[in-house]
Amino acid sequence: MVTMDTYDVMRTTAAVREYTDDPLPDEVLMRILDNARFAPSGGNRQGTRVVVVRDARTRGQLADLGIPGAKRYVAQLRNGEGPWNPLQPCGVDAEAIAAVQVPRESPLREAPVVLVVCVDLSVVAAFDQELDRIGVVSGASVYPFVWNILLAARNEGYGGVLTTAVVAEEPRAKELLGIPEEYAIAAVLPLGKPVRQLTKLKRNPVAEIATRERFDGPPLGD
Ligand SMILES: Cc1cc2nc3c(=O)[nH]c(=O)nc-3n(C[C@H](O)[C@H](O)[C@H](O)COP(=O)(O)O)c2cc1C
Repeated sequence: MVTMDTYDVMRTTAAVREYTDDPLPDEVLMRILDNARFAPSGGNRQGTRVVVVRDARTRGQLADLGIPGAKRYVAQLRNGEGPWNPLQPCGVDAEAIAAVQVPRESPLREAPVVLVVCVDLSVVAAFDQELDRIGVVSGASVYPFVWNILLAARNEGYGGVLTTAVVAEEPRAKELLGIPEEYAIAAVLPLGKPVRQLTKLKRNPVAEIATRERFDGPPLGD
Protein backbone atom coordinates (compact mmCIF):
# COMPACT_ATOMS: atom_id res chain seq x y z
CA MET A 1 0.00 0.00 0.00
CA VAL A 2 1.29 3.48 -0.92
CA THR A 3 1.14 6.09 1.79
CA MET A 4 1.94 9.69 1.01
CA ASP A 5 2.65 12.50 3.42
CA THR A 6 -0.68 14.05 4.50
CA TYR A 7 0.23 17.58 3.44
CA ASP A 8 1.49 16.35 0.05
CA VAL A 9 -1.87 14.66 -0.50
CA MET A 10 -3.76 17.83 0.50
CA ARG A 11 -1.66 20.04 -1.77
CA THR A 12 -1.80 17.80 -4.85
CA THR A 13 -5.35 16.43 -4.97
CA ALA A 14 -6.24 18.05 -8.30
CA ALA A 15 -9.36 17.68 -10.43
CA VAL A 16 -8.52 14.66 -12.61
CA ARG A 17 -10.73 14.29 -15.70
CA GLU A 18 -8.62 12.00 -17.90
CA TYR A 19 -7.81 8.42 -17.02
CA THR A 20 -5.59 5.65 -18.36
CA ASP A 21 -7.06 2.23 -19.17
CA ASP A 22 -5.90 0.91 -15.80
CA PRO A 23 -8.65 -0.56 -13.66
CA LEU A 24 -9.51 0.63 -10.18
CA PRO A 25 -9.96 -2.73 -8.44
CA ASP A 26 -12.62 -3.25 -5.76
CA GLU A 27 -9.83 -3.98 -3.31
CA VAL A 28 -8.43 -0.43 -3.73
CA LEU A 29 -11.91 1.08 -3.72
CA MET A 30 -12.61 -0.75 -0.46
CA ARG A 31 -9.48 0.78 1.11
CA ILE A 32 -10.43 4.25 -0.15
CA LEU A 33 -13.94 4.02 1.35
CA ASP A 34 -12.76 2.23 4.49
CA ASN A 35 -10.57 5.26 5.28
CA ALA A 36 -12.89 7.97 3.93
CA ARG A 37 -15.75 6.77 6.17
CA PHE A 38 -14.04 8.39 9.19
CA ALA A 39 -15.26 11.80 7.94
CA PRO A 40 -17.46 13.74 10.38
CA SER A 41 -21.20 14.33 9.98
CA GLY A 42 -23.65 16.41 12.02
CA GLY A 43 -24.41 14.56 15.28
CA ASN A 44 -22.36 11.67 13.84
CA ARG A 45 -25.59 10.55 12.15
CA GLN A 46 -23.61 9.18 9.17
CA GLY A 47 -26.37 9.57 6.61
CA THR A 48 -24.08 9.03 3.64
CA ARG A 49 -24.45 6.27 1.04
CA VAL A 50 -22.36 5.48 -2.02
CA VAL A 51 -23.58 3.87 -5.23
CA VAL A 52 -20.58 2.31 -7.00
CA VAL A 53 -21.27 2.42 -10.73
CA ARG A 54 -19.01 0.43 -13.04
CA ASP A 55 -21.54 -0.43 -15.78
CA ALA A 56 -20.64 1.58 -18.91
CA ARG A 57 -24.27 2.05 -19.93
CA THR A 58 -25.24 3.48 -16.54
CA ARG A 59 -22.17 5.75 -16.55
CA GLY A 60 -23.21 6.95 -19.99
CA GLN A 61 -26.75 7.64 -18.76
CA LEU A 62 -25.34 9.65 -15.84
CA ALA A 63 -23.16 11.62 -18.27
CA ASP A 64 -26.26 12.32 -20.40
CA LEU A 65 -28.12 13.55 -17.32
CA GLY A 66 -25.33 16.08 -16.74
CA ILE A 67 -25.82 17.66 -20.16
CA PRO A 68 -28.80 20.00 -19.44
CA GLY A 69 -27.00 21.48 -16.42
CA ALA A 70 -23.81 21.90 -18.41
CA LYS A 71 -25.71 23.64 -21.21
CA ARG A 72 -27.13 26.23 -18.81
CA TYR A 73 -23.65 26.64 -17.29
CA VAL A 74 -22.12 27.45 -20.67
CA ALA A 75 -25.05 29.66 -21.76
CA GLN A 76 -24.78 31.76 -18.61
CA LEU A 77 -21.00 31.97 -18.86
CA ARG A 78 -21.31 33.26 -22.45
CA ASN A 79 -23.88 35.77 -21.23
CA GLY A 80 -21.42 37.14 -18.66
CA GLU A 81 -23.25 35.60 -15.70
CA GLY A 82 -22.01 33.53 -12.79
CA PRO A 83 -23.24 30.09 -13.91
CA TRP A 84 -25.88 28.55 -11.61
CA ASN A 85 -25.25 31.28 -9.06
CA PRO A 86 -28.08 31.21 -6.50
CA LEU A 87 -27.95 35.00 -5.92
CA GLN A 88 -28.37 35.95 -9.58
CA PRO A 89 -31.51 35.21 -11.56
CA CYS A 90 -30.79 33.19 -14.70
CA GLY A 91 -30.69 35.68 -17.59
CA VAL A 92 -30.84 33.15 -20.43
CA ASP A 93 -34.08 31.53 -21.58
CA ALA A 94 -34.79 27.85 -22.14
CA GLU A 95 -34.49 28.19 -25.92
CA ALA A 96 -31.02 29.76 -25.71
CA ILE A 97 -29.93 27.07 -23.24
CA ALA A 98 -31.21 24.28 -25.50
CA ALA A 99 -29.28 25.74 -28.45
CA VAL A 100 -25.91 25.51 -26.67
CA GLN A 101 -23.65 22.68 -27.79
CA VAL A 102 -21.59 20.98 -25.10
CA PRO A 103 -19.06 18.20 -25.68
CA ARG A 104 -20.44 14.68 -25.29
CA GLU A 105 -17.15 13.54 -23.78
CA SER A 106 -17.34 13.26 -20.05
CA PRO A 107 -15.10 11.83 -17.36
CA LEU A 108 -18.15 9.81 -16.30
CA ARG A 109 -17.97 7.86 -19.60
CA GLU A 110 -14.20 7.36 -19.39
CA ALA A 111 -13.57 6.49 -15.74
CA PRO A 112 -13.49 2.82 -14.71
CA VAL A 113 -15.73 3.64 -11.78
CA VAL A 114 -18.16 6.40 -10.83
CA LEU A 115 -19.26 6.94 -7.23
CA VAL A 116 -22.62 8.58 -6.64
CA VAL A 117 -22.52 9.95 -3.09
CA CYS A 118 -25.88 10.51 -1.44
CA VAL A 119 -26.98 11.95 1.88
CA ASP A 120 -30.09 11.05 3.86
CA LEU A 121 -31.83 14.38 4.40
CA SER A 122 -33.95 12.82 7.15
CA VAL A 123 -30.90 12.71 9.44
CA VAL A 124 -29.05 15.97 8.68
CA ALA A 125 -29.13 18.91 11.09
CA ALA A 126 -29.55 22.12 9.09
CA PHE A 127 -29.03 25.03 11.47
CA ASP A 128 -29.48 27.46 8.58
CA GLN A 129 -32.94 26.23 7.58
CA GLU A 130 -34.83 29.29 8.92
CA LEU A 131 -32.54 31.80 7.25
CA ASP A 132 -33.52 33.78 4.20
CA ARG A 133 -30.73 32.35 2.07
CA ILE A 134 -29.85 29.18 0.27
CA GLY A 135 -28.93 26.27 2.58
CA VAL A 136 -25.28 25.29 2.94
CA VAL A 137 -25.10 23.55 6.31
CA SER A 138 -26.76 20.28 5.16
CA GLY A 139 -23.85 19.80 2.78
CA ALA A 140 -21.46 19.79 5.73
CA SER A 141 -22.77 16.32 6.64
CA VAL A 142 -21.61 14.84 3.35
CA TYR A 143 -18.82 16.86 1.71
CA PRO A 144 -16.14 16.02 4.31
CA PHE A 145 -16.75 12.37 3.29
CA VAL A 146 -16.70 13.25 -0.41
CA TRP A 147 -13.39 15.07 -0.05
CA ASN A 148 -11.93 12.24 2.05
CA ILE A 149 -12.68 9.91 -0.88
CA LEU A 150 -10.74 12.13 -3.27
CA LEU A 151 -7.84 12.50 -0.82
CA ALA A 152 -7.72 8.73 -0.25
CA ALA A 153 -7.84 8.10 -4.00
CA ARG A 154 -4.86 10.44 -4.43
CA ASN A 155 -3.02 8.60 -1.67
CA GLU A 156 -3.58 5.35 -3.59
CA GLY A 157 -2.27 6.85 -6.85
CA TYR A 158 -5.72 7.44 -8.35
CA GLY A 159 -7.65 10.62 -9.05
CA GLY A 160 -11.09 11.97 -9.75
CA VAL A 161 -13.22 15.04 -9.79
CA LEU A 162 -16.15 16.26 -7.74
CA THR A 163 -18.99 16.87 -10.19
CA THR A 164 -22.50 18.12 -9.51
CA ALA A 165 -24.06 18.76 -12.95
CA VAL A 166 -26.16 15.57 -12.66
CA VAL A 167 -27.89 17.02 -9.58
CA ALA A 168 -29.78 19.48 -11.84
CA GLU A 169 -31.59 16.34 -13.08
CA GLU A 170 -31.73 14.67 -9.67
CA PRO A 171 -35.21 13.08 -10.00
CA ARG A 172 -34.14 11.20 -13.15
CA ALA A 173 -30.77 10.23 -11.65
CA LYS A 174 -32.47 8.92 -8.51
CA GLU A 175 -34.87 6.86 -10.60
CA LEU A 176 -31.98 5.48 -12.68
CA LEU A 177 -30.17 4.25 -9.57
CA GLY A 178 -33.15 3.45 -7.32
CA ILE A 179 -32.21 6.10 -4.75
CA PRO A 180 -34.95 6.57 -2.11
CA GLU A 181 -37.01 9.76 -1.76
CA GLU A 182 -35.33 11.10 1.37
CA TYR A 183 -31.81 10.99 -0.12
CA ALA A 184 -30.17 13.84 -2.03
CA ILE A 185 -27.34 13.33 -4.49
CA ALA A 186 -24.41 15.38 -3.21
CA ALA A 187 -21.69 14.48 -5.69
CA VAL A 188 -20.83 12.26 -8.62
CA LEU A 189 -17.18 11.19 -8.58
CA PRO A 190 -15.52 9.57 -11.60
CA LEU A 191 -12.31 7.87 -10.39
CA GLY A 192 -9.39 6.32 -12.25
CA LYS A 193 -5.65 6.38 -12.82
CA PRO A 194 -4.67 9.92 -13.91
CA VAL A 195 -3.16 10.35 -17.38
CA ARG A 196 -1.06 13.09 -15.80
CA GLN A 197 -0.70 14.29 -12.24
CA LEU A 198 -0.68 18.02 -11.55
CA THR A 199 1.34 18.92 -8.50
CA LYS A 200 1.06 22.72 -8.44
CA LEU A 201 -2.51 23.83 -7.81
CA LYS A 202 -3.57 27.47 -8.11
CA ARG A 203 -5.07 28.57 -4.80
CA ASN A 204 -5.29 31.91 -3.00
CA PRO A 205 -2.64 32.48 -0.31
CA VAL A 206 -3.58 32.38 3.38
CA ALA A 207 -3.17 36.18 3.69
CA GLU A 208 -6.06 36.56 1.23
CA ILE A 209 -8.41 34.13 2.90
CA ALA A 210 -7.84 34.53 6.66
CA THR A 211 -8.10 37.61 8.86
CA ARG A 212 -7.58 38.18 12.57
CA GLU A 213 -10.57 38.55 14.91
CA ARG A 214 -12.97 40.09 12.36
CA PHE A 215 -13.80 39.61 8.70
CA ASP A 216 -12.30 43.05 8.05
CA GLY A 217 -9.37 42.43 10.42
CA PRO A 218 -5.71 42.34 9.39
CA PRO A 219 -4.66 39.37 7.28
CA LEU A 220 -3.24 36.39 9.16
CA GLY A 221 0.48 36.16 8.51
CA ASP A 222 1.07 39.91 8.13
C1 LIG B 1 -18.95 21.82 -5.77
C2 LIG B 1 -18.08 21.47 -6.96
C3 LIG B 1 -18.67 21.16 -8.17
C4 LIG B 1 -17.89 20.84 -9.28
N1 LIG B 1 -18.50 20.48 -10.44
C5 LIG B 1 -17.74 20.07 -11.48
C6 LIG B 1 -18.35 19.56 -12.66
O1 LIG B 1 -19.58 19.45 -12.76
N2 LIG B 1 -17.54 19.18 -13.68
C7 LIG B 1 -16.18 19.24 -13.59
O2 LIG B 1 -15.49 18.86 -14.54
N3 LIG B 1 -15.56 19.72 -12.48
C8 LIG B 1 -16.32 20.12 -11.42
N4 LIG B 1 -15.71 20.56 -10.26
C9 LIG B 1 -14.24 20.57 -10.17
C10 LIG B 1 -13.66 21.98 -10.08
O3 LIG B 1 -13.73 22.60 -11.34
C11 LIG B 1 -12.21 21.86 -9.57
O4 LIG B 1 -12.24 21.27 -8.30
C12 LIG B 1 -11.52 23.21 -9.48
O5 LIG B 1 -11.51 23.85 -10.73
C13 LIG B 1 -10.10 23.07 -8.98
O6 LIG B 1 -9.35 22.28 -9.88
P1 LIG B 1 -7.82 21.87 -9.56
O7 LIG B 1 -7.85 21.14 -8.24
O8 LIG B 1 -7.39 20.95 -10.66
O9 LIG B 1 -7.03 23.12 -9.45
C14 LIG B 1 -16.49 20.86 -9.15
C15 LIG B 1 -15.89 21.15 -7.92
C16 LIG B 1 -16.68 21.42 -6.83
C17 LIG B 1 -16.01 21.67 -5.49
